Order: sequence, then structure tokens, then C-alpha cells
Amino acid sequence: MEGEVFRTHGFSTGMRNSRPRSQAAQLTKILNLLQFNAAISRYKEFTMQRTLSMIEPDGVAKGLIGDVIKTFMDAGFRIAAMKMKKLSQAEAEGFYAVHKERPFFGELVEFMMSGPVVIMVLEADDAIRRNREIMGATDPKEAAEGTIRAKWASSKQNNIVHGSDAEDT
Ligand code: TYD
Ligand code: MG
Repeated sequence: MEGEVFRTHGFSTGMRNSRPRSQAAQLTKILNLLQFNAAISRYKEFTMQRTLSMIEPDGVAKGLIGDVIKTFMDAGFRIAAMKMKKLSQAEAEGFYAVHKERPFFGELVEFMMSGPVVIMVLEADDAIRRNREIMGATDPKEAAEGTIRAKWASSKQNNIVHGSDAEDT
């Protein structure tokens, strides 16, 4: 009876050298499935997007490194690289080069150099768009509830996080 149950599930009991035919068939099925899964995971790796994220000096000073990282982890991001450092003048200016003609540029650069930042490469499907969504609008007053900036930012300038908004920024 017990032997019957095992045999119908493709396992042999007792006789070491007898492998029911169905076992080979099942093995083939499983191998096919595994190869299929391997192909899917290779495809996922290939389509995985990376984006630059930075916890700004106000985020670090307010003790929010852990909270910000947890927010990204809970949203399913993987941290591909991470570094804490103080930006030099050239780095801060270069980083915001797209804004160099704007009136707030000088003050923004000063702010970005006012303390260490945490720079991260985040990885996920659709990472650029999803990172922007999780950060919230530039102005915390306009940021959607539950976003990083709605919860912790104090102004348009001191808005806790930076995130790329396109492939080339
Ligand atoms: P921007 O790229 O427009 O916003 P985001 O950070 O959402 O991508 O602006 C970059 C930074 O410039 C912003 O995080 C804070 C600063 N900034 C100001 O200080 N004042 C402003 O009026 C704007 C638009 C931006
Ligand atoms: Mg931007």
C-alpha cells in the first residue's frame, strides 16, 4: 500500500535498481522547467534597470539613512552599490550642472556640500520611474502622502533625496 503510494508519485521504494519509467519523465519535466526558469531570470537580469539615488546632507543629518534605505528595500529595490562621502565643490557643481543657470544653483551647491551624502545605485524593474514615485515631488508640500519627501523633507531645497529622472541624468 505504502509502496503503491510512492510508486504513483514516481518514487521507488525497496528495490534500489528499479526506477519506474515515470521517474525519468518527471526528471525531464523538472529539468525543462528549471531551464525555463533560468531563462526567465536571465531575461529579468537583462531588463533590470539601474538608477542613481542620493541621500542628501539633510537626510544624513536628520538620521534618516536607515529609514530611506528601508523604504527602498520594502519597495523591492536592490542596492547594487553604495558609498558615503562629502562632495567637493566640483562634484556638487557637476552633479547639478543642468541647473547651473537657475537662481537657486549657488545655494543648492552649498547645501550639497554642507555634509556627507550617501550615494546609491538602485536596481529594480522600472527603477527610474519607481524611484521618482517613492521620492515624491520636488516640493514636499506637493509630494504625495507616504513618499520620502512628504514624510521627511522640509523644503524644495532640503528635500532628503536626489534621484535620476532619466537614463542619462
Ligand atoms: P529638480 O531636478 O527640478 O527636482 P528633483 O530633485 O525632484 O529631480 O531640482 C533639483 C534640485 O534642485 C531639487 O531637489 C532641489 C533644488 N531646487 C531648488 O532648490 N529650488 C527649486 O525651485 C527647484 C525647482 C529645485
Ligand atoms: Mg532632478
